[in-house]
Parts: sequence; structure tokens; C-alpha cells
Amino acid sequence: MKNLTADELRDMYLKFFESKGHKIISGASVIPENDPTVLFTTAGMHPLVPYLMGEMPHPAGTRLTDVQKCVRTGDIDEVGDSAHLTFFEMLGNWSLNDYFKKEAISWSFEFLTKHLGFSPDQLSVTVFRGEGKEGEEGYIPADEEAASYWRELGIPDERIYRLPREDNWWGPAGTTGPCGPDTEMFIDTGKPKCGENCRPGCHCGKYIEIWNDVFMQYNKNAEGKYEPLGRHNVDTGMGVERTICMMSGAPTVYDTEIFAPIMAAIDALRPAESSLQGEELLRARRIVADHMRTATFILCDPKGAVKPGNVGANYVLRRLIRRAVRYGRQLGIAPGFTPKLAEVVSKKYAHVYPELAANLATCQADLEAEENRFNQTLDKGEAMFNKVAEQLKAHGQTQISGKTAFKLYDTFGFPFEMTLEMAEKAGLSVDKEGFEEANRKHQELSRTTSAGAFKAGLQDNSVVVTRMHTATHLLHAALHKVLGPTANQKGSNITAERLRFDFTWPEKMTDEQIKAVEDLVNEWIAAGIDVTKKTTTVEEAKAEGAMALFGSKYGEEVTLYTIGDVSKEICCGPHVANTKELGSFKIQKEQSSSAGVRRIKAVIGNMQA
Ligand code: ALA
Repeated sequence: MKNLTADELRDMYLKFFESKGHKIISGASVIPENDPTVLFTTAGMHPLVPYLMGEMPHPAGTRLTDVQKCVRTGDIDEVGDSAHLTFFEMLGNWSLNDYFKKEAISWSFEFLTKHLGFSPDQLSVTVFRGEGKEGEEGYIPADEEAASYWRELGIPDERIYRLPREDNWWGPAGTTGPCGPDTEMFIDTGKPKCGENCRPGCHCGKYIEIWNDVFMQYNKNAEGKYEPLGRHNVDTGMGVERTICMMSGAPTVYDTEIFAPIMAAIDALRPAESSLQGEELLRARRIVADHMRTATFILCDPKGAVKPGNVGANYVLRRLIRRAVRYGRQLGIAPGFTPKLAEVVSKKYAHVYPELAANLATCQADLEAEENRFNQTLDKGEAMFNKVAEQLKAHGQTQISGKTAFKLYDTFGFPFEMTLEMAEKAGLSVDKEGFEEANRKHQELSRTTSAGAFKAGLQDNSVVVTRMHTATHLLHAALHKVLGPTANQKGSNITAERLRFDFTWPEKMTDEQIKAVEDLVNEWIAAGIDVTKKTTTVEEAKAEGAMALFGSKYGEEVTLYTIGDVSKEICCGPHVANTKELGSFKIQKEQSSSAGVRRIKAVIGNMQA
């Protein structure tokens, strides 16, 4: 293996595919042009969809290669471990109805082994195992053709894994567009298997996926059916950060030359002595590094359309910056650091992405303003906290009440996690349940005034959560319609980023079912149905046909939320006043939660405030 820099890797990749007849094209903006289904560009194929569909010829021809800036924030809470990033660069090569599987696979192999110097022994690959029965509708054969090309190249069959759709099918789930089976390339890190079922795609860290070749022969149409595209495209994506990590032998992406300057800058800005230790220290540094890199790319984007705010992509950006500020403070970094780190990111990348130099000044101004705003909030909250702590101690008390914690959060915008952290340092406990209770009550009260009225600061959190809450009821109702009444709620969890919903169902939902559920929810949102509530008894609510999730746990008096004739659920709320407030709904993942229980992760779209 060679020890390349990201600059060298990009260069080698583009030149390699140029030597195979590809034209090098520019990557697109990280803020998508005309696609309301995604907040950011998440793969190199996004900007090429019309050409992949064959709607028009690409001016540069039928063989293209580029480097694409991608932002994926679905796993933001996971950032800080060794592998998750919210921003990454994707190297890609495309065949627009030109070459197909044989060439794509043999060039991937050639580049990996001859140019990057990976040994074929380090490679494991996966191919689509097919689904359905021959002759029946929906049948898609196993991709033995792809497997045979890998074998011809010397990859033994035991390292060619045949996996189902959730692993080896690429195409934007739930939406229409070009898609197809893929073959994914993994580097075996040499770590021991985590268990009998450990294989490429397992998250234990033994196998790291670095490249994906998608064979786009299908189009997912509006009915959710796969129809032949009538074209054979290739869409590939190789992750720069992961590949560099694998080549350098670094333990994590944060230990590569890509992150070296930004990590060094963080370490130079923070005091050597930190209250954080071990994993916590590592995590905080990584979060600051990752989030600042992503925020800088978003703010420097030539489109300039995304600024810190309360809705959609703006909200994602605000959350990235505020999380970085919070963890920066934990590291003991003095205020005003975000513009400094943006400059480091700009220096690292401006020769590849000139917008990072051209737009640095406005990016820094935006960061400074957002950091100041948030720091003021935090300062006020900390001062209040200290007052509270003093008073408690003066009275010989050791617990912060839920009401007080809620006041800190609601009136002063002080994040609840910070109350918990500071309390721990001060030797105080916090009534967490009391806080949750106060939060719930408050949201009930504010729901009638919340429609369209976004207050500044962290308040937006509760508005997003309220909308997610209503979306959860619609999702539950849609699952009943599509799967039947046995698809019952087992659990639900809502964050400002996504909703998660667990329900009883014995098998993986089909793409058609997922689409049908999504469509139903979107129909109900578009229909602008009023959400009403009333206080009643469990018995009466059940007599009206309400879904009562936890049965008698609520006692006699309950609140019944009704969404037109779509949904009736006993619930504590809060909910929006009208389904229109959700904007749109999208299922991001459908996966197994435990035996007989499936889990859906979904998001809602922009709110027309
Ligand atoms: N579009 C494919 C991916 O993102 C290459 O993995």
C-alpha cells in the first residue's frame, strides 16, 4: 500500500479514468440545485440524474469522472467515533449507457491493486443476491455476472459475498429515479471477526467499505415499481477519507493527513490540561474538527444559500456550529475560535475548492455571529445556573428541580445537557423526570401559538420535535393502512434530526410498502388536516376507536388527539395544529430492531413558515 495524500489520490483517480477515456468534469455544489428531497448533495450521482435517466446527452460525453463534495448528516449524533463524518469527498466515474459491469469492475480492481497498491488478499467484495422468483413479478436475478468478473480477477468465491437489497442495491429510497444492484469493495483491516456472522457490511470495524460500483439498469417509478431503465449506466463512489485512512494504516480518519492541520489547530487553541480525558477528549476534538469542516464547506459554497437558521438545511448548519461551539467550550477553547478553524479548513482545501478562499470572509463573519449568539445564550445560562446552585447550597439542598432546569432551558435557552454537566461538577443532582414533565406541559400550552412562529435560539428544537410528534401519529396510521392493524407501535424516539418508530412486523418491508406509507403520510400533510384534542377517559377514547399505546398507564383522564379521520391516539402531545406544518415526510431507513420488530427512521421537510 502506498501512503498517499488526499491531493495525490484525487489526482491519480481522475488521471486513471481519463486514461480509460473519461472526461474530467467539475463536482457540483454541496447545496442541491433543484432537488427538494435532499437538503444537501449526498453522492456524486445527484447532479447527474437527468443524464443517467437519458433525458439528455451530457455535453462531456458518455464517460465522466469527478470529485464531489458530499454532506450526510443523518448520523450526526454518531460523529466522534472512529468512522462517522458529516462531510466527505466522493471520487466517481460514470458510464452513461457506455461500458458496463466488466469494465467497471476490472478498472476498480486495477486502480485498487496496481495504482493504490492494495493487495488482492485484502479485498472482500459484495454483490446483489437477487430477489423474488423467476417468472413472477418483481423478480430480479442475483448478480452472478458481477461475481464472475471478480472471480476472473482472482478474488476467491469465499470473499465474494452475496447480500440482499439492504446491502447491495443503490438508489434513493422512497423516491423515483435510476437505481440498481451494486458491488461494494471492502478492505479487511485484519482485525478478528466480531462473531460468526461478521462479514462486509458489519459495523464492527473489521471490514471498511471504500468503493461502490452501482449498475443502474432500473428506474424506480412513481408507483414504487422497478422498471427497466432501457440503459446500462455505471455510477461509482469511492470515499477519499476512508481510502486515505486505509492506505496510511491510520487508526481513524481523524488520524490522517486530511485532518492533521485541523486537529493541530484545535490542540493549539485548547489548554493542554483538560477536564476531559480519554475517549471523551478524543470525541470532543473529533466533533469540533468534523463539524467545523462541514460548516466551512457549507458556508463557503458558491450558492451561498444556506445560513444558520431554524429550518431545513439552515437548521442543520446551526446545529453543526452550535455543537462545535459546545464541545469547543468543553475543551477549554476561548471564544471566537470558529472563524480560526474555518481558516485552517480553507488553507487545507482552497487549492482544490477555490470557493473556500473566495468566500472565506463571509463564512467567517457568519460563524462569528452564530458563535457569539450561542455564547451569549450559554453565558447567561451559566450565570443563572450558578445563582441557582448557590441558593440551593445555602439552603442545604442537593437537587435542582425539574421546574428550575426547565426554566434554564426555556427562558435562557440553556441546553439541558449543560445543566446536567454543570450540576455534576457542582455536586448537585437534577430531577430529570421533572424536567421532561415540565417540557411536555409547556409544549402542550404553546402548541396553539407555535404554528409558523419560530422563536430564535434553541426554542426551535421544541417546534421541530412537536412536528415530528405529529408525523409519528401519521406514520403509525399509514402503517396500519398499508400493513394492517398488527403493525403496532412498540416504541418511539424523537430528536430534532429525525423520528424513530419501532413497530411489530415480522419481516422487512418491501420498497413498495415503504413508498405507499410515505405517500400516504405526504397526502395527509398536503391535505392540511386540523389536529384537535380533547380530554376524555381511556374507555371513551377506546370506544371511539382510538389507539391507546400504553393502555391503562394513563389512568382515567387522558388526552385524545384526533387528526381528521386519519388518526386518533391517546397521547401526551404536543402536536401541531394542522398537518400542513410538517411540510413533507420521508422515510430514510427501514431496518430490524429486534425479533419481530422493525424500526423506521424518518425526517420531515421544510416548513413553510
Ligand atoms: N451513488 C453510489 C454511492 O453513493 C455510488 O454509494
